Amino acid sequence: MGIKFNKVDFKYQGNDNKAYLALSNITLNIKDTGEFITLIGETGSGKTTLVQHMNALLTPLSGSVDIFGVKINRENVKKKKVKLNPIRQQVGLVFQFPEYQLFEETVQKDIIFGPKNFGVDEATAIERAKEVIKVVGLDESYLQRSPFNLSGGEKKRVSIAGILAMEPDILILDEPTSGLDPLGRNALLDVFYDIHKKLNKTIIIITHDMNTVYEYAKRVLVMRDSYLVYDGDPIHLFTNKNIDNWNLDVPDLLNLIHKLEEDLGIQLPTQPRNEQELFEQLKVVLS
Ligand SMILES: Nc1ncnc2c1ncn2[C@@H]1O[C@H](COP(=O)(O)OP(=O)(O)O)[C@@H](O)[C@H]1O
Ligand SMILES: [Mg+2]
Repeated sequence: MGIKFNKVDFKYQGNDNKAYLALSNITLNIKDTGEFITLIGETGSGKTTLVQHMNALLTPLSGSVDIFGVKINRENVKKKKVKLNPIRQQVGLVFQFPEYQLFEETVQKDIIFGPKNFGVDEATAIERAKEVIKVVGLDESYLQRSPFNLSGGEKKRVSIAGILAMEPDILILDEPTSGLDPLGRNALLDVFYDIHKKLNKTIIIITHDMNTVYEYAKRVLVMRDSYLVYDGDPIHLFTNKNIDNWNLDVPDLLNLIHKLEEDLGIQLPTQPRNEQELFEQLKVVLS
């Protein structure tokens, strides 16, 4: 099951009647459990367009996307042969700046809106709200507050809780940490990592933060000018010979490892993924 892209092309029809290419010949498989994927690439490379195909918000111009066995292509959508509602529940997509989409009087009403829309009864939806508010690191007292009186980071958490309350199998987040300070960013990343670890859910995060990519991701997708140019692990990504063309930053930890090698001649046995691993290896190498 999961999500399968088969030779997908997509263009936007601009207001000026010109076509703007956003996806070219994308073929890609994403499993329905156990993946922790980061999606990176320059602004305008097609990241948002790609994830909006993963829950059928957009339909391929040519090719198809199989979402949990439902084939999304021009013909099927045009002739209304496919039901989109179950897909939207199975694949939860948190937009960039979701905080602008909060609109109810209380946090609780915002969170239960989605599940109720998908047919969950009110009492069950409220039970779920109590659970997911804790998952995103806020306590139950937030449920009775107005979403408009929360900080930016808290609003983001509430929006994410609203998607979690629909109990999606796959969770996709479009630049969830943009606009947050480093502490808020790390706290939110820990939330996603926890959800992935505890529930074995597939999570896809669009980010510009290469430190996140390097430390957390099991799999990295790189978009460049509407093409998927890399699909693999983060360690090989940063040693790929094409990396300079993709305009990606190098993670801080890798810069440090390179300095250790070049300036101090320290060769590490394996490539550490975080400070703790680096420290453990240095202890062995220097002892
Ligand atoms: N509504 C739109 N109308 C016309 N062009 C668009 C629209 N949305 C996005 N595009 C174009 O499609 C390409 C991919 O955009 P997008 O998927 O938003 O990229 P990213 O998320 O990587 O920044 C860009 O060239 C962008 O200008
Ligand atoms: Mg985008």
